[in-house]
Amino acid sequence: MYIQNEYVDKKVSLNLINVSKKYLQPHTNRIHTVLDNINIQILEGEIVTIVGKSGCGKSTLLNLIAGFENSYGGEILLNGNPVKDISPERIMMFQESALFPWLTTFQNIEIALKMAKIPKDQREEIVMHYLEIVGLSDYSHSYIHQLSGGMKQRVALARALSLNPKILLMDEPFAALDITIKKSLCKELLDLHKKTRKTILFVTHNINEAVLLGDRVIVMSPQIYGIKKEYVIDIPKDQRYENPTIKNIINQITSDLYEYN
Ligand SMILES: Nc1ncnc2c1ncn2[C@@H]1O[C@H](COP(=O)(O)OP(=O)(O)OP(=O)(O)O)[C@@H](O)[C@H]1O
Ligand SMILES: [Mg+2]
Repeated sequence: MYIQNEYVDKKVSLNLINVSKKYLQPHTNRIHTVLDNINIQILEGEIVTIVGKSGCGKSTLLNLIAGFENSYGGEILLNGNPVKDISPERIMMFQESALFPWLTTFQNIEIALKMAKIPKDQREEIVMHYLEIVGLSDYSHSYIHQLSGGMKQRVALARALSLNPKILLMDEPFAALDITIKKSLCKELLDLHKKTRKTILFVTHNINEAVLLGDRVIVMSPQIYGIKKEYVIDIPKDQRYENPTIKNIINQITSDLYEYN
């Protein structure tokens, strides 16, 4: 399937059609709408970032796409196939790196490959390839507690990429990190994206991060249970720092987030 607009000729990777999600509140037995009528199309190789107030449903949306929950309204299609369950095609990266502390860096990635049924004789090469990509070849035998927060997120990123997903779902992956590490990881993510051209859906509270990384930025609002605005950022990513147009977009998104609706 192809979109007929300025992205002509690029293939749709992820297609969300009228997606909605409601929860039953345990104590009140009331239905709580979190997402209503969400329509998003993400093209292959695109980075789409999502910002929105706490509780507006960003993680819920990523969880649905990851296949963690299968009761929802509407349709979620990856390369035209309905999302029904978890799959190595859709890998989620969280704020906390979710690594096993009793395993080494190498083993943390290898175990994911094992679970994805990658044959044993191929695993070492794949692990070392992705460790090299994230600059951690020298730390393959380190245990997780011997790594810094930024290094842990790099391992999580290497692990996610090693599964060769069709889409990478990133839920505030750098939120817990120091500002300088956050900046360098953003740059590294862009370098990695140049090499791998992975489709990425990236949730963040940091508007700067959203605007520096995204080909598009989606602004969600809890008042409408969905998408309030979308910004297409057609400035090359290496020209976005200190760029007046970018600063203007950051200001607009900031006011979108502070308006009531
Ligand atoms: N499993 C669940 N059961 C019931 N309600 C849930 C569940 N998961 C999320 N919610 C509700 O859905 C709403 C959206 O939560 P979600 O975690 O998606 O927000 P968010 O935008 O990611 O917020 P934050 O920026 O704080 O991470 C919240 O009101 C939350 O209580
Ligand atoms: Mg969240």
